Amino acid sequence: MIRITRKFRFSASHRLHAAELSADANRELYGKCNNPYGHGHNYEIEVTARGPVDDMTGRAVDLRLLERLVREHVVGPLDQKSLNADVAEFQAKVPTTENLAIEIYRRLTQAWRSVFPGEWPVLERVRIVETARNIFEIGEAHGQK
Ligand code: NI
Repeated sequence: MIRITRKFRFSASHRLHAAELSADANRELYGKCNNPYGHGHNYEIEVTARGPVDDMTGRAVDLRLLERLVREHVVGPLDQKSLNADVAEFQAKVPTTENLAIEIYRRLTQAWRSVFPGEWPVLERVRIVETARNIFEIGEAHGQK
């Protein structure tokens, strides 16, 4: 079994603001991240897939297919966007990087079988490097929620 990780980058802005909370509570909870005009990140995402090495091709994951899947469902729709204003899923959900990880994982899981119809490879993990110090992970080993 081989595990392969491919890295991608996209830039997007967000503002952390919970609709259920007052303006003061939001400022208290999110600090600078509650700034009304938002702020940007250069997100780096790492998508990890796992599978056995195919005898004939010698490969475990067709990286061109993985590339296309992630570009079409994640990088394309999110790059240079305001997560709050432009992404439907974040109309009702705060676009924290936790929720972004859940959303990216959901998008990839949903489209996975259309690109990889066989038993392998499987999507193992999505990792988001938000800043050099803040790294978020979601995947098989971490449960779905
Ligand atoms: Ni931020």
